Amino acid sequence: MYFGADYYPEHWPRERWEVDASMMKEANLNIVRLAEFSWSLMEPQEGVYNFAWLDDAIRVLSAQGLKVVMCTPTATPPKWLMDKHPDIYQVDRFGRQRGFGSRRHYCFNSSVYREYTEKIVTALAEHFKDNESIVAWQIDNEFGCHDNICYCDNCLEGFKKWCRDKYGSIENLNAEWGTIFWSQTYRNWDELIIPAYTECDTISGMTSRNTHNPSLMLDFRRFSSDSAVDYQKLQIDIIKRYTDKPITHNLMGHFSDIDYYNLGKDLDFISWDNYIRTPWGEAGYKETSMAHDLMRGIKNKNFWVMEQQSGPCGWNNLGSTPAPGQLRLWSYQAVAHGADAIVYFRWRACTFGTEQYWYGILDHDGKPRRRYREIQQTGSEFEKLTDLFVGAETVTEAALIKSYDNSWCHGIQYHVTGFDYNKILTQYYSGLADNGISLDVTSADTDLSKYKLVVMPAFNLMSDDLKERLEKYVTDGGNLLVTFRSGTKDWNNKMSTDTLPGYFKNLAGVEVEEFDALYGDRTAEVDGITGKGTASLWCDVIKPETAKVLATYSSDFYKGAAAITANEFGKGKVFYVGCDLDTCSMKALMKFIAQEAGLLPVLADLPEGVEAVRRISKGIEYLMVMNHNETEAQIKLDGEFTDMITGEKVRNDVKIQPYGVFALVR
Ligand code: GAL
Repeated sequence: MYFGADYYPEHWPRERWEVDASMMKEANLNIVRLAEFSWSLMEPQEGVYNFAWLDDAIRVLSAQGLKVVMCTPTATPPKWLMDKHPDIYQVDRFGRQRGFGSRRHYCFNSSVYREYTEKIVTALAEHFKDNESIVAWQIDNEFGCHDNICYCDNCLEGFKKWCRDKYGSIENLNAEWGTIFWSQTYRNWDELIIPAYTECDTISGMTSRNTHNPSLMLDFRRFSSDSAVDYQKLQIDIIKRYTDKPITHNLMGHFSDIDYYNLGKDLDFISWDNYIRTPWGEAGYKETSMAHDLMRGIKNKNFWVMEQQSGPCGWNNLGSTPAPGQLRLWSYQAVAHGADAIVYFRWRACTFGTEQYWYGILDHDGKPRRRYREIQQTGSEFEKLTDLFVGAETVTEAALIKSYDNSWCHGIQYHVTGFDYNKILTQYYSGLADNGISLDVTSADTDLSKYKLVVMPAFNLMSDDLKERLEKYVTDGGNLLVTFRSGTKDWNNKMSTDTLPGYFKNLAGVEVEEFDALYGDRTAEVDGITGKGTASLWCDVIKPETAKVLATYSSDFYKGAAAITANEFGKGKVFYVGCDLDTCSMKALMKFIAQEAGLLPVLADLPEGVEAVRRISKGIEYLMVMNHNETEAQIKLDGEFTDMITGEKVRNDVKIQPYGVFALVR
């Protein structure tokens, strides 16, 4: 199993490199990622390439048996290039050009930048094509981190072409967008705009709202996402001409500005950057597991963690320090959800630059301490368990569907204050996880027939094609869950004239008579299969046609009306959830639905904060159990197992240490 660190030899004196390499080996690391921000060293002047320092670094590292992920350096175009071609900079929607001094300061659609990209990537690939230490390539770094939406002239021209390719004629575009509204009709392609600042935009405090035609805005989001995909492809095609080593890009988990399913198509494998405790917030363990499951769901294949938090971190201020045991626990959690490799960010905290406060395995002084020793231990355990871990399948029978198009649609018109698509997805994920059910988080394009349950919250934009596929899935015996704000729009972001829930009306066997957006602090009460529950965002007032009622409202003018229903359709069932729910009633609802769908928990009666995942490796089935609590917990096993980490036998009622982990084989 690859187990390593993100290393920046260029940040340290040459004489330290040997020390680092041998300390890495001592820590059981066997891989480093290199060079993703080092363009100014690779090409200090236009056309003058210098890879000697990288050759040297790889020589030093490989002498200790370390392998390399080589990166293209395009996330940080150098000063000479930006001075020569300032039109490479992104432009924000107020028309302001962004400047030099941080990173990712380029537009994907700049033809000049694409030419320079071709040159540096070609030079790099040519130079390193035969280097045996390189086992994989990473393109750029975190597309979209900071901002991927640009409003420059190149983007305007690119968007016109994108629309022409999509709609064929301007008349068709006008019809599909409904530009007759507010006299926005375009007479020809030249007149087309991008959704920059307009009269109606509101800016209050830090938030601003863009009020363009929703179809235009959605297409612009799609175009911006496609621009990143296309730019990545440019680099992949070059590298593939020189080497067949696998190519990846480091994604950002729940980040939703780029369609990761599309970005993932051109990659050989997915990798992602997993930060849990930062000054910008702390991810709950379910949120992190869900991000891992999504990363696995992009290609429905195992993935790497390319940056795994290894210390306290922040830019100007710091998040909490990972407690003893957490670095190890987080690494096992990643593996349990499908990581075939873990690379820690970063080897050592840097003494200069924006990320001086971003601690790595080592502090600034370079001395091994608690975190180093914990990673060393984890590495030695992983080494022994390689066969059990790498390539193992994480067993799931249910899927949560995430759609980037829907995420953008909800972002453009968010229905009611507080509506957050990703939060709603997380609530469903947690509702199932709280009942011990493992999930794939994946695209609606995935073959759904293998799942007993498919959960599609707030799937607002719909197509006839998807409707047909879902009808077939349910007819053949699948269970489908849909919610409020599902099926109300076509794929171009226009409202359907079908009675709500629009595209899902037949499947769900209900009509939505009316709805209530719960503005401000208003809540509504629900009762039924959920127990007594509370909605705080939205209530669809449901008129069942063929569906049975599972819960009703117990407050407000719609008291007594159906809130949640189940409809038999073919051999399967469709659950319609008309309102949002609090944690407790969501758990109760998902318990009922899991039972209806025939889903069994991985381990019954798990205490809060303990997670169990079933995996299969070369025919061997095993359970990974992780205690995310800072206190000991007790789990119930049915019989005797061997913990593959310690070799000890465990049976029936077992204590699991704070931040403890088991890998149990019967
Ligand atoms: C990631 C990024 C790294 C580093 C790290 C800490 O998002 O890929 O380059 O910046 O965060 O901020």
